[in-house]
Amino acid sequence: MQVLSTIAALRAARRGIGTLGLVPTMGFLHRGHLSLVERACAECGAAAASIFVNPAQFGPHEDLGRYPRDLPRDLRLLEQAGASLAFVPDAGEIYPPGFATRIDVGAVAEPLEGAARPGHFSGVATVVAKLLNIVQPDRAYFGQKDAQQVAVIRRMVRDLDIPVEVVVGDTVRDPDGLALSSRNTYLTPGQRARAPALHRALRSAEALFAAGERRAAVLRTAVHAALGADAELSVDYVGVSDPDTMEEIERVGSRALVSLAVRLGRTRLIDNVVLSAS
Ligand code: PAF
Repeated sequence: MQVLSTIAALRAARRGIGTLGLVPTMGFLHRGHLSLVERACAECGAAAASIFVNPAQFGPHEDLGRYPRDLPRDLRLLEQAGASLAFVPDAGEIYPPGFATRIDVGAVAEPLEGAARPGHFSGVATVVAKLLNIVQPDRAYFGQKDAQQVAVIRRMVRDLDIPVEVVVGDTVRDPDGLALSSRNTYLTPGQRARAPALHRALRSAEALFAAGERRAAVLRTAVHAALGADAELSVDYVGVSDPDTMEEIERVGSRALVSLAVRLGRTRLIDNVVLSAS
């Protein structure tokens, strides 16, 4: 595996590879990331991963400074997963002096995470556009856990005619249901024990949907009620939305995204499930 920290070196290495899948990450890799790398290898023949903790997608009071990092471990895991290239730029390489452009993806980026984290998706879209331009992969792989991020990136790729296929991998969970996230490392053992409540709450919406419930308000209330059983969980939002536009819906048709953000102490966790009538 080649490890490259400059755009020039990455581009030179990329020229020697045919079909390539890119897995953009912020590092501190877990099985969710690695499953995307393995899938990229299997589907494209070669995989690249980027590791870049992108300052532009963090708000002023968020966790940029304490975001977990372990580059030697990440590189070992990427190599084991079969990646050919690891792109590990520093902030000056991605945002050199004078950098000014921001991508605003519009309405899909506004509700839910976009409302809770102003500027977040503009930061995500801008860095992902840059990574796609730098690496020029045939396919780019993202996790369904960040469902709104997926919708934002799909919108941007379509609107800007970026020649890449966006591929989405299922959320990878611990056996007790907690969705894997680099931020899970912030949880104390007591908080970690409470965290599966997020997935349990989403499953209560799934169960209602399976029993025929189609009113979004009823599904939302059920998720709130399940989360409300634990006073340590502070709910940021529960959304029932169109998975492509992220618009809130009143009645679930064929598909809907039920998503939530919850604070457990200082840690903010997100999760979602897709309800599908088929
Ligand atoms: O999902 C992430 O880790 C980040 O938002 C991404 C896509 C790597 C952009 O910084």
